[in-house]
Amino acid sequence: MSDLLLRLPTRRATVRLACALAAALGPGDLLVLSGGLGAGKTFLARALARALGVPRDIAVTSPTFTLVHELPGRIPIAHADVYRLGGADELEPLGLRERRAEGALVVAEWAAPFVDALGGDAIVVELDHDAAGRHARVRSTGERADEVVRALAARCG
Ligand SMILES: Nc1ncnc2c1ncn2[C@@H]1O[C@H](COP(=O)(O)OP(=O)(O)OP(=O)(O)O)[C@@H](O)[C@H]1O
Ligand SMILES: [Mg+2]
Repeated sequence: MSDLLLRLPTRRATVRLACALAAALGPGDLLVLSGGLGAGKTFLARALARALGVPRDIAVTSPTFTLVHELPGRIPIAHADVYRLGGADELEPLGLRERRAEGALVVAEWAAPFVDALGGDAIVVELDHDAAGRHARVRSTGERADEVVRALAARCG
């Protein structure tokens, strides 16, 4: 499976990553955003939504309390934040697996522990910052996700 390490020294670099993701992602894909508080998960989700054509008058914010926001992009987007979820059983009522089956792109913050419960085959973006600055590690957990990460590597690698 592919594994890509990208440096994100500026917000613009993150926006470029979002544009490359927008070009590579399709209906039914699962994008998992992980990384600690303030790592840039929602910033990346917002840039991706804009790159997929979500109008600027629709706010893209962390759906921490509502858990899922539906966003009208070129591909319909279900944006979730599962930080508060106790376990995989609490995921079921959110209907995210169903949204994938219906052709939505699911973008889920804090969802790394729930990849299987969300139907697997995820593109996982781990955002981090250390002394060397911000970076993203992008990996795939299935065949379709691998295709996406390879397309991303061709653009950003
Ligand atoms: N590559 C970058 N360089 C500099 N700043 C960045 C970069 N990417 C994002 N940021 C900034 O970092 C902050 C990240 O906040 P954001 O809300 O996206 O984090 P988060 O991971 O969703 O946090 P939380 O888990 O608390 O919801 C934003 O203020 C954003 O402007
Ligand atoms: Mg957030």
